[in-house]
Amino acid sequence: MGKRVIITGVPGVGKTTVVEGAMKALATEGIIYQPINFGSFMFEVAAKEGIVQDRDQMRKLDRTVQKKLQKMAAQAIAAIEGNIIIDTHCSVKTPQGFLPGLPEWVLSALLPDMLILVETDEDQILQRRLRDPTRIRDMEGSRGIADHQQFNRSAASAIGVMTGCTVKIVKNQDFLLEQAIQEMAAALR
Ligand code: AP5
Repeated sequence: MGKRVIITGVPGVGKTTVVEGAMKALATEGIIYQPINFGSFMFEVAAKEGIVQDRDQMRKLDRTVQKKLQKMAAQAIAAIEGNIIIDTHCSVKTPQGFLPGLPEWVLSALLPDMLILVETDEDQILQRRLRDPTRIRDMEGSRGIADHQQFNRSAASAIGVMTGCTVKIVKNQDFLLEQAIQEMAAALR
């Protein structure tokens, strides 16, 4: 069985950007990971059933619907073989509070070897969200982003204890993207 790595971080921290860079660097050494976006698996089902029109509407759905979509995504991803890197969330900010992105029944399907948590200063994340016109982001100040990052650290720690996977924190700071890419690539080797 290949390696299963979960990558998380608050929206806009740059996890997709860092993963893409790390995979490109590793491919030059013949190390291949298949990138999997957990939200895309959820969105595919939700869009087919006519529940949502865009991925940013998913976190506003009733939590029982979100849980059903999570379960279907986890089962589909669990069937994928080889080295995979799953881009997802430790927690999703919903109007009813934080929804665990990786509850026990998702983790027992995925069985991760490692969890990577991407972080940076909350002010930088706020600026990145404001600069990205392609997404409909929730209106949130830097204090709210800091609280979300803190919650994710607790969730990551619980996931490590529950599954035995290692938890790696990668900082993706402004002007230091290459450093984040190299750090992630080293963890994935
Ligand atoms: P998802 O697809 O993960 O979207 P997201 O959380 O909004 O994350 P993004 O892809 O937008 O942000 P990113 O952190 O990858 O940043 P990016 O690299 O683009 O999830 C979508 C939805 O699916 C969720 O909202 C949820 O509803 C659902 N979902 C997913 N998993 C779930 C789960 N387990 N349970 C329940 N629901 C789930 O970068 C952002 C910007 O920053 C870019 O402009 C980039 O150029 C810039 N940037 C990146 N790095 C740097 C740097 N070092 N310096 C300066 N700028 C930088």
